[in-house]
Order: sequence, then structure tokens, then C-alpha cells
Amino acid sequence: MQKIAVYPGTFDPVTFGHVHITQRAAKLFDKVIMAIALDSSKKTLFTVEERMALIEECCLADLPNVEIEIFEGLLVNYVKKKGAVAIIRGLRAVSDFENEMQMASINRHLNENVETIFLMTDSEYSFISSSVIKNVAALGGDVSHFVPPAVEKALKKKFKVGEINGKR
Ligand code: COA
Repeated sequence: MQKIAVYPGTFDPVTFGHVHITQRAAKLFDKVIMAIALDSSKKTLFTVEERMALIEECCLADLPNVEIEIFEGLLVNYVKKKGAVAIIRGLRAVSDFENEMQMASINRHLNENVETIFLMTDSEYSFISSSVIKNVAALGGDVSHFVPPAVEKALKKKFKVGEINGKR
């Protein structure tokens, strides 16, 4: 039987940190589904279609056992529907722990058959988040070390950095 894992998130936008976690999860499971939460309380910069397209471009080309989907409602219900055995989460720093423990505990309470597997984020990416990347990009900073080229380009387009800088 195929062992399937779900890697959920908002991915607004996907970063090298997410890509690295996905690559590692893809070695551990037969199939990994990167699942974009539609019900995220976050106000997003990219539409869900844009986030999906960026993930497709940045994560799927070299990883044949990774898929991308959008899910609505409770994560555990989606995981069950997909026949997955695990939820993948990346841990960046101690500060992530409390929130992750809460999420893993509530998910386990909701469905005791679903395990949450934590992968330590590579130290190179342990201090980044999608919000930080967006802040830096909005101010014209270089984010090329932290996001794939397609995401960098999309951020530039959103913030029209070239145009703004060109006018100054
Ligand atoms: N590298 C870089 N950044 C990372 C990272 C990594 N390895 N792992 C996480 N991050 C960043 C993300 O970019 C994000 O940044 P942001 O806050 O600036 O946007 C931040 O860390 C938190 O990301 P994440 O932990 O993935 O949270 P999320 O808000 O993106 O996703 C859901 C949370 C969607 C998984 C969760 O809300 C959920 O399951 N929702 C469905 C509803 C549900 O079932 N609720 C009950 C259970 S909580």
C-alpha cells in the first residue's frame, strides 16, 4: 500500500524552505501532497491559483511523487479523504514548537490515526517566512537566496519594484 503524506500550508509564496522540506518528505513517502489551505485566516498576496502555479513551477518538475492540491475545511478530514498516513510540518526554531504542538495535538484529537511528522528546517532557511520575504521584496530587497527564481519574478511583478525604482 502506498504511504501518502500531506504537507499543508498557506505557501504565500512558496520559499526554498518549503521546497527543501518537500524534497526531503518525498524521499520518505511514496507520495507527498502539498496542500494549500483555502480557509487560512491569513490575508494573502497571491491568489490560490497563483500560489498553486508557483508551486507547480518550483517544486514539481524534479519530484514525480509530489502533487499539489487545494483543500477546504479541516486538515484531518482532507488527510483522511486522501488516504494519507501523515501530516508533514517543518520546524524552524523553538518558537515554532508551541504552535506546532497545539496543531499536532488538536489534529491527533480529531483523528487519532493521523501522525504529524516534523522535519527540522535547514539552518540556511530557519529564519525566513513568507511574510519576511514579502516585506523584503516590497522594499526592493534581494530575496534570490530564499525563493526560487519564478517566485522572485512574481514578487517583483506584484510589487512592481522595477517600475517604482525606475521612477525615483
Ligand atoms: N521554510 C520557510 N518558511 C516556513 C517553513 C519553512 N520550512 N515552514 C513554515 N514557514 C513559514 C511559512 O511561510 C509561514 O510564513 P507566514 O506566517 O509569514 O505566512 C509560517 O512559517 C507559518 O507557516 P505554516 O506553519 O505553514 O502555517 P500556515 O499558516 O501557512 O498553515 C495550516 C497553517 C494551513 C496548516 C493550518 O492553519 C491548517 O491546517 N488549516 C486548516 C484548518 C484546520 O484543520 N484547522 C485545525 C488545525 S490547526
